[in-house]
Amino acid sequence: MAGSSASDPLVVVDELTKTYALGEVAVRALRGISLTVTTGELVALTGPSGSGKSTFMHLLGCLDRPTGGTYRLGGRDVARLSKRELARIRNREIGFVFQGFNLLPRTTALENVELPLLYRAGLSGARRRTMAREALEAVGLADRLGHHPGQLSGGQQQRVAIARALVTGPRLLLADEPTGNLDSRTSIEVMGIFQRLNVERGLTIVLVTHEHDIAEYATRVVSFLDGRVRFDRPVGRRRTAAVELENLAGEEADPGDRATRGHAPISATLSRPITGV
Ligand SMILES: Nc1ncnc2c1ncn2[C@@H]1O[C@H](COP(=O)(O)OP(=O)(O)O)[C@@H](O)[C@H]1O
Ligand SMILES: [Mg+2]
Repeated sequence: MAGSSASDPLVVVDELTKTYALGEVAVRALRGISLTVTTGELVALTGPSGSGKSTFMHLLGCLDRPTGGTYRLGGRDVARLSKRELARIRNREIGFVFQGFNLLPRTTALENVELPLLYRAGLSGARRRTMAREALEAVGLADRLGHHPGQLSGGQQQRVAIARALVTGPRLLLADEPTGNLDSRTSIEVMGIFQRLNVERGLTIVLVTHEHDIAEYATRVVSFLDGRVRFDRPVGRRRTAAVELENLAGEEADPGDRATRGHAPISATLSRPITGV
């Protein structure tokens, strides 16, 4: 995080390709992706099933290596890094959120969030717990520290997963269909958390969604088709989750008042706490 500021290119990929060998068949999942993500962007990656979104996210997350092309993260060519350096990047610089939450079942929210810190030498148990508690507070779950995943709603479980991705202080947050298992109201709540993290902390976020309205919470939409970029453009009328949630609450109280749905400046919403799921 140190030294990076808005307008610095954080992710630079050039002609990135990925071909999977599936028996005799070569599956060309990515056929030459070139794009730059600048610090402070919130990018929605869209496209039909099979267009290469997850493959691309795995490459960005250093979970897999490309077949060709280059990937520079914070100015460093990822292909030139040793396994040890890559592990460090995965643990310190990148947070990953999955569609299915991927939490450990018989483990509390606090312990799930502490997990990525166990690999870090020199942190006391007390310090780890403090960091985990702060991350859970940041996603509005201060009152659920001792709950197991089975005792939490889907939206709350995804918040725990976001806290786990945040606890290491990453500069890049990647989320592959984070709202894919959530109902529409809960999806807006989760998008509200991403918008807050993006605006308040300047966290750079790339998230996959195949839902058009979810993409409108981002600052930019990149669409894939058959392993290529189909289009890449800024979001014109950006939706603001906090405003929409307030309107939803208002509608429940007074179904007649639908005046100011969405599209308000996000800065107007920042002083408010995140509400519970
Ligand atoms: N591990 C793998 N082995 C072989 N083929 C794969 C693998 N992962 C993905 N693919 C193939 O690569 C293409 C892109 O997949 P994916 O990146 O998962 O797309 P999306 O996330 O957009 O649905 C698809 O044709 C898929 O079947
Ligand atoms: Mg996918």
